[in-house]
Amino acid sequence: MDFDLFIDRKCTESLKWKCYPEDVLPLWVADTDFRCPPAVMEALHKRVDHGIFGYGLPPEGLDQVVIDRFRRLYNWQVSPDQIGYVPGIVTGFTLVLRALCQKGDAVIFQTPAYPPFIESPKASGLIGIQNPMYLDEQGIYRIDFDLFERQIIDNKVKIYILCNPQNPTGRVYNKEELLKLAEICLRHNVIICSDEIHCDIIYDNNKHIPIASLDPEISKQVATFMAPSKTYNIAGLHASVAVIQDEELRKSVQDYMAYLISSPGVLSLVAAKAAYEHGDEWLREQLAYLQGNRDLIGEAIETGRLPGVTWSKPQGTFLAWLDCRKLGIEGDLQEYFMKHAKICLNNGCTFGKAGEGFLRLNFGCTRTVLNQGLDQVAEAIRKI
Ligand SMILES: Cc1ncc(COP(=O)(O)O)c(C=O)c1O
Repeated sequence: MDFDLFIDRKCTESLKWKCYPEDVLPLWVADTDFRCPPAVMEALHKRVDHGIFGYGLPPEGLDQVVIDRFRRLYNWQVSPDQIGYVPGIVTGFTLVLRALCQKGDAVIFQTPAYPPFIESPKASGLIGIQNPMYLDEQGIYRIDFDLFERQIIDNKVKIYILCNPQNPTGRVYNKEELLKLAEICLRHNVIICSDEIHCDIIYDNNKHIPIASLDPEISKQVATFMAPSKTYNIAGLHASVAVIQDEELRKSVQDYMAYLISSPGVLSLVAAKAAYEHGDEWLREQLAYLQGNRDLIGEAIETGRLPGVTWSKPQGTFLAWLDCRKLGIEGDLQEYFMKHAKICLNNGCTFGKAGEGFLRLNFGCTRTVLNQGLDQVAEAIRKI
């Protein structure tokens, strides 16, 4: 796969490329500019050529592909009845919140946070509790576990929305951290809703560990969401995997879901199966390419190409969380970069209070586009 190949997306309905004026370079919403694996295109072509798109079932063998994948990658044993498919992870975790909470209940998550973690509880009549992370001496984002536990107790928190790998910081939590989080949640009877959408985009020696895979006692309190959407750039097809191993918990969520959402479309599940079954080699190549992009940003920061900008090197995801607080830009950061350098990055303040003064840059693009983006960021800094 040639990840250097630039493919025009303006001729499609791409949110990323069509939301802002033509001359703005879009390095914001989290999809990549890469064409999905050839096996996915082939499977979709074959299914489209059949020409009949009546009501469907998950494709034969999909459950087994998912089960084998979990066992192979995480030594995690899941059975077919514990798996379901939902048309998106935001939909999935919102359903869990609404199924298990009463109006006014509290939900906790780390900040900076993927904006729907903040907005979805609000829209559901729940109280969102922000648990800010901090940077340690090595510049790694860490969780303040004491504060986390205190906030859970003080607010009688019902659900913890975990994001691992974390968007926007790119942290990949290790086993010790996940065990601590789980212990606290078990101690206070908090359900863990684990958004693991970025689980396949991991760099260096980091390893993704599904929190539910740690221990059967932990898995009883977890709803896990994963998807091929970020991994294989098929987010617009809307196919995500939900795993709830505890029967009672699963039934509560399933009962709530009934008549409310339908399963993902027939094409999306065909694509998901092909991606999981045949996408390994493509994914390895993509990871090497994305790691190169990440390291290019690291070099730009270290060598002063982006003076005044710092970051915490992401351990996973294709997102760079840029600390722009020292630049001294007044007013709306996103607007400043859009106006002065025609580049669109995500505004840190939408990721909670902890995100003020930050920008999120999506480096899931060709290296040429990334270099152009870095030049544009530098240009905006020069104009301060
Ligand atoms: C942490 C996280 N969760 C969920 C989503 C969106 O998932 P979906 O499109 O399946 O709703 C994103 C997309 O950026 C994300 O970063």
